[in-house]
Amino acid sequence: MVTMQTSLMTENTVLTDPFGRVHDYLRLSITDKCNLRCVYCMPEEGLEFFPDEKVLSKAEIVQLVKNFAAMGIKKVRLTGGEPTLRADLCEIVEEISVIPEIEDIALTTNGLALPRLAEKLWKAGLKRLNISIDTFNSEKYREITRGGSLKQLLKGIEAASQFPFVIKLNVVVIKGQNDDEIADFLSYSMTHPVNVRFIEFMPIGHSNNARDTKLWEDNYEGLDRIFQVCAENGWEYKPYYMSGNGPSENYQLAGALGSFGLIHPVSCRFCDSCNRLRITADGAVKSCLYWDDESNIRENIFDFEAFRTQIQDVLALKPQNHEMALAANEKNKFQKPTWRHMSQIGG
Ligand code: 5AD
Ligand code: SF4
Repeated sequence: MVTMQTSLMTENTVLTDPFGRVHDYLRLSITDKCNLRCVYCMPEEGLEFFPDEKVLSKAEIVQLVKNFAAMGIKKVRLTGGEPTLRADLCEIVEEISVIPEIEDIALTTNGLALPRLAEKLWKAGLKRLNISIDTFNSEKYREITRGGSLKQLLKGIEAASQFPFVIKLNVVVIKGQNDDEIADFLSYSMTHPVNVRFIEFMPIGHSNNARDTKLWEDNYEGLDRIFQVCAENGWEYKPYYMSGNGPSENYQLAGALGSFGLIHPVSCRFCDSCNRLRITADGAVKSCLYWDDESNIRENIFDFEAFRTQIQDVLALKPQNHEMALAANEKNKFQKPTWRHMSQIGG
């Protein structure tokens, strides 16, 4: 009994940072490649993708997760770029899902490959899917994603709905582009058993560069509009509890099959409860989505002691919070925002 308590205590303290935040959630980007070019995520001209040899292999990814599992990580989310572009995605899911300490494995995807992959992913052990859909209008979808087919995405959502995945739909609210569809998304949560998550546009990557800074300033919109739309339509809602939900604040419309959530990293920082670590496709550990600080872990993946020491060094320097909500003249001059684009971090 004493031994078990000791081992639990050790496990809980391994991934604790100086602010007392315990990390049990790993976001793992398995590719920086994407078949879309969403306006909030990638610059218009696209990006040069990492050469294949720079990207972690399946064996490295699986061993990395095993190391983290031994340090207290319980939940893994695979992200990209677009993770379905990896031919070995289902094998990666399968191998992670049998690691005993990993209680939950999820995937963030643009959904276009789900008609082909939904069943395989379910069989491989995937439990949760976050699918990006910013509009129900085909023309607008093509504009926002710079080329995607809404028809294909809807087929993907339909394919995923045939299996008991927990499905969340990610809607980045973009001023003047999809903020007129908030009522449509809320109605969707009424008739479908999904969680519609309205996400604030974050100034990361190109939308945080001097050249494109207006992209963020001109397109950012806070999420109060969601409650206004409920009021305008006379829709009642109440707080809704969902397990494993991180920073999302959830509600349910009266009589709805699904629910909706608000994620507002900019207007309402949730850094105090941050429980996440990120790994980029090229093996960098990021303790914070926003800042430049990162440390490449690839060389230590097969050396557990070195791996653990490096991760603990990274956590010891985890910043207390980001500065997305601060005006330019209030910004900390000693730390730089990351050079990476959102597609190179995985959200
Ligand atoms: N702001 C907010 N969310 C973003 N994502 C990508 N870029 C941004 C950004 N600048 C998120 C979206 C998308 C997921 C893949 O990453 O939620 O659905
Ligand atoms: Fe956590 Fe950094 Fe995100 Fe804040 S910005 S919630 S500290 S990862």
